[in-house]
Amino acid sequence: MERRVRSMPVYTYVSHPSVDGLYAIPSVTTQEGFDAAISYQARPGDIFLCTYPKCGTTWVQNALLGMKYGRPLAKNEKLDIMFPHLELDGIDAVENVEDLPRMIKTHLLFDMTPWNPQSKYICVARNPKDCFASFFYHTVGFTHLYHYEDGKFDDFFELLISGKVDSGDFFDFSTKWWVMSKEKSNVLYVLYEDLKYDPHGEFLRIAQFLGDEWADKVTKNGNELLDAVVNFTSFKNMSQRDYHAPRPAELPFLRKGVIGDWKNLLTKSQSERVDEKMEQSGKKYPGFNKLWDKYAEDLK
Ligand code: A3P
Repeated sequence: MERRVRSMPVYTYVSHPSVDGLYAIPSVTTQEGFDAAISYQARPGDIFLCTYPKCGTTWVQNALLGMKYGRPLAKNEKLDIMFPHLELDGIDAVENVEDLPRMIKTHLLFDMTPWNPQSKYICVARNPKDCFASFFYHTVGFTHLYHYEDGKFDDFFELLISGKVDSGDFFDFSTKWWVMSKEKSNVLYVLYEDLKYDPHGEFLRIAQFLGDEWADKVTKNGNELLDAVVNFTSFKNMSQRDYHAPRPAELPFLRKGVIGDWKNLLTKSQSERVDEKMEQSGKKYPGFNKLWDKYAEDLK
C-alpha cells in the first residue's frame, strides 16, 4: 500500500523559560531575534494588542489606528510599520514608531509578553473552532513562510489541538490572558464574536478602556469617529485593501470573516475534541468554558 508522506509546516523553534519544550514561531526569525524582541521594555502608555493568531488582530489593528489618527490607513501606509508585530518585526520596528502612543501587536503567551502596569493590553479572543479553521487556511496560504501548500486539515488539526503550531497553544494563550483581564485593570478581553455582533459597542468599550480622551474623541459630534471606524473596518471595506500578502487568489488574507465557518472543515469527532479541551480549561479556569455560550446557536 502506498504510504502518504505527511508534510509539516516549517517553523523556527525557540526556547523560553516559561515554556516546557520548544515554542514555534514563523520561520522568519531566529532565537537571537526572538530574544531581542521580547526584551523590549514596555513603557507607560504603550498599547499592546495581544491575540492568538487568526482571532481578529488585523481588524482591531485597523480600528485602533483609526481611533489614533481619526481616519483609515492610507494606501501607502503599512500596517507592520504603523503597528509592528513585536516578535516578528523586532524591537527596532517598535522603537521606530514615532507617534505616541506606540501600538504593538503580539501573539506571545502572557508570561512572555513585556509587562508594565502602566501599559494597556487588549486581548482579542475567538472561539477555537473558527480560529482553527482560519489558522489552517492561513498556514496553507502563506507558502513562503510555511511551505505547507499541500497540507491536510486532519494533520494540521492534530498540531492545533496539541498546541504545536506557531505561537503555541490556543488554550494556554486564551485562558491566561482571560484570567489576567479579571485581575488587572490594564488588561481588556474582547471576543471576536462580540465585535461581529456589536462593533459600535465593542469599539467604544475599547476606547473607554484606553481612557477618557479616547472615549471623548470617538463619541464627539454624535459618535462621528466611532461610526467612521466601524464603517472603514467592515469586512467589505477592509477587503479592498492590499495587504501585500503573497497568497493564492482563492485564499485571500481576509478570507470570510464569519462565525461558524468551522462547520465546513472540522469533523464531528474533531469538534468534540475541541469541546473536551474547553471543558478541561473550564475545570482549571472556571467560566472560561462558558465564554462562547451566548453564541451556541451560531457555533453548533
Ligand atoms: P477567517 O479566516 O475566518 O475569515 P488575524 O487578523 O488575527 O489573522 O485574523 C484573521 C481572521 O479575522 C480571518 O478570519 C479574517 O477574515 C477575519 N477578519 C479580518 N478582518 C475582519 C473584519 N473586518 N470583520 C470580520 N472578520 C475579519
